Amino acid sequence: MPIISLSSFKGGVSKTTSAICLASLFCDDGATLVIDADPNRSATTWARPGGLPFQVCGEKEAAKLMRSQKFEYIIFDTPARPNDAEVEDLARGCDLLIVPTPPDILSMDAMALMAKSLPQDTNWKVLLTMIPPPPQKDGQEAMEALKIQNYPVFSRGIRFYKAYKDAVASGVPIHKVRGGKVAWRDWTAIKNEVIQAVKG
Ligand SMILES: Nc1ncnc2c1ncn2[C@@H]1O[C@H](COP(=O)(O)OP(=O)(O)O)[C@@H](O)[C@H]1O
Ligand SMILES: [Mg+2]
Repeated sequence: MPIISLSSFKGGVSKTTSAICLASLFCDDGATLVIDADPNRSATTWARPGGLPFQVCGEKEAAKLMRSQKFEYIIFDTPARPNDAEVEDLARGCDLLIVPTPPDILSMDAMALMAKSLPQDTNWKVLLTMIPPPPQKDGQEAMEALKIQNYPVFSRGIRFYKAYKDAVASGVPIHKVRGGKVAWRDWTAIKNEVIQAVKG
């Protein structure tokens, strides 16, 4: 039962969106649970209309749910600004920690700070998110900078599409909204890489 956590020092970097999209991706292969550990409960809000093909539960409900049902994949969505002890707990409590970051300087700096506070033996990987469309080169430049600095980074990032906001508003996975199919391709494209990364 692979456990994947999403974490970042900064808010608004696509943690919740990534948690929901990864769960949408993995739920085809087996029962998937998203544990919403953020007091803002964004993942729970997304799930509320009932259109997601997997369960989302609060942190405190999770143990009981996992006792009564068998899950193949657990995805942990977490709040921004964890302290060092929380980062360490999170990193040790999962098989893969994904740190999403948009390709802007402030987000990338926050990602670098998180990288420093992660214990050495942690299995973690950066996911570039909210990459602006061409002709902007932000995504490409950020990817090159991450690679030069030897950060573990997914070989492809997630592009910026309006469809994400529509998916939250309708309470459905991204591929179910108008214009969402093209956005969804970014997730199917990294699926195997996520599976490989979970194995460490
Ligand atoms: N790839 C993307 N393209 C467009 N909007 C996005 C994308 N990823 C996230 N968003 C939007 O950005 C905002 C913050 O995303 P969210 O997943 O809630 O971040 P976090 O959980 O890190 O705070 C939300 O409004 C979400 O719909
Ligand atoms: Mg969130």
